[in-house]
Amino acid sequence: MGTAEVKTVDLESTAPETRRDALSVTDRRTGKIYEVPIANGTIRAMDLRQIKTGPGDFGLMSYDPAFLNTASCTSRVTFIDGDKGILRYRGYPIEQLAEKCSYLEVAYLLLYGELPNAKQYEEWVHNITWHTMIHESLKKLMDAFNYDAHPMGMLIATVAAMSTFYPDARDVHHQASRTKQTYRLIAKMPTLAAFAYRHSLGMPYVYPDNDLSYTENFLNMLFKMPAARGYRPNATLVKALDILFILHADHEQNCGTSVMRSIGSSHADPYSAVAGAAAALYGPLHGGANEEVLKMLKEIGSASRVPSFIEEVKAGKGEKRLMGFGHRVYKNFDPRATIIKRMAEEVFAVTGRNPLLDIALELERIALQDDYFVKRKLYPNVDFYSGLIYQAIGIPTAAFTVLFAIPRTSGWIAQWEELLEDPDEKIARPRQVYQGPGERTFLPMEKR
Ligand code: CMC
Repeated sequence: MGTAEVKTVDLESTAPETRRDALSVTDRRTGKIYEVPIANGTIRAMDLRQIKTGPGDFGLMSYDPAFLNTASCTSRVTFIDGDKGILRYRGYPIEQLAEKCSYLEVAYLLLYGELPNAKQYEEWVHNITWHTMIHESLKKLMDAFNYDAHPMGMLIATVAAMSTFYPDARDVHHQASRTKQTYRLIAKMPTLAAFAYRHSLGMPYVYPDNDLSYTENFLNMLFKMPAARGYRPNATLVKALDILFILHADHEQNCGTSVMRSIGSSHADPYSAVAGAAAALYGPLHGGANEEVLKMLKEIGSASRVPSFIEEVKAGKGEKRLMGFGHRVYKNFDPRATIIKRMAEEVFAVTGRNPLLDIALELERIALQDDYFVKRKLYPNVDFYSGLIYQAIGIPTAAFTVLFAIPRTSGWIAQWEELLEDPDEKIARPRQVYQGPGERTFLPMEKR
């Protein structure tokens, strides 16, 4: 398909009343001129349907594989300006939220649109804390996985299985049911994630502890040894993980969130939708990139090997990528990566410096002055430095994406809630441009 040709009309010489928020389209096939309204910087794709060559013509569609330039919804949750490197949740800059809030405060903000007051926060934390236990049968389901099962595979399967434990979740049109599932999902994701990790080590599960904060409890379930008494997660590491949770909580219409909305649009229960969203997140081009970054840094091995690795990436012409670099929306620094990079030093002061950091810093330094990356506006994204911190905290590489899925759950649910309340929304059902064979006559097997 060709690209659009641009011609300019001199509006200065036209009467002021001819100027309006509309697109004039001349269909060169018919000579007809259409006026398509513009609102919020968009045209409605359905307006194109009127552009047809005759009564038998289906009408024009827009062709946009991978949704490069298609808004699939209106949203009031998260704002990104990819050129300026701006990220805001419900209008609040991510930098301020990361500095001043707890993850659960931010989750409340995403879900309800406002920061909670003291009473609302207390109730919210109570409701989440009270739902952290998982059904014992779900624990048995965990036991059925092979010892080397990937924690993301286990998380996806067990979240999906939760829909069978809470059949009331299918009642997606009632707010009371949705609220209950919201508590359960946000509360139980860390428990599922920690159990998946303990299973991979062949260690007994540690049950949630209601005396601990959300993040402390997660670290406790990951690392507490049954025989060792008095384990208390380090306060700096708790804070760092809480900030990482804030940074990962939402990111508007990314691949996983689009899946959440797509599944939600069929009115499936939220556990099934979260399982689907988590499956999308698992991929190496999405949340799975944090795991890939660590593998890549290990493969490079030393800062001196960075230049040759960069050359291999460039020669690979897209086949081999610099993982943790580039973004569909950010064409500037990802503000989340900037916060994480700053935070890394505080974490390493407690855990000791991760030797892979020097390789990462050298990669960033060289890539940011290399024409290939500069021309394509490829900057470090959220996944570039997060894995180094997870690793320093003691989390194994295979569990990194699980740490992305835990906080993203609040964003997924906020977007799902918005979808269900939006009168414009219907079941997601894209169109296609069929390019297969026309009608053919069936041939029996002996004649093929
Ligand atoms: N290393 C080398 N080249 C790259 C990279 C990279 N990381 N990312 C993009 N390019 C090149 C790509 O080859 C293409 O070059 P050309 O124009 O010569 O064909 C150009 O840059 C545009 O790339 P694209 O694939 O069309 O861009 P996209 O918007 O479809 O992809 C992306 C975005 C994030 C999938 C991609 O940048 C990528 O694969 N990055 C590495 C994986 C990664 O870090 N993913 C995490 C993203 S942030 C967190 C999240 O979403 O969960």
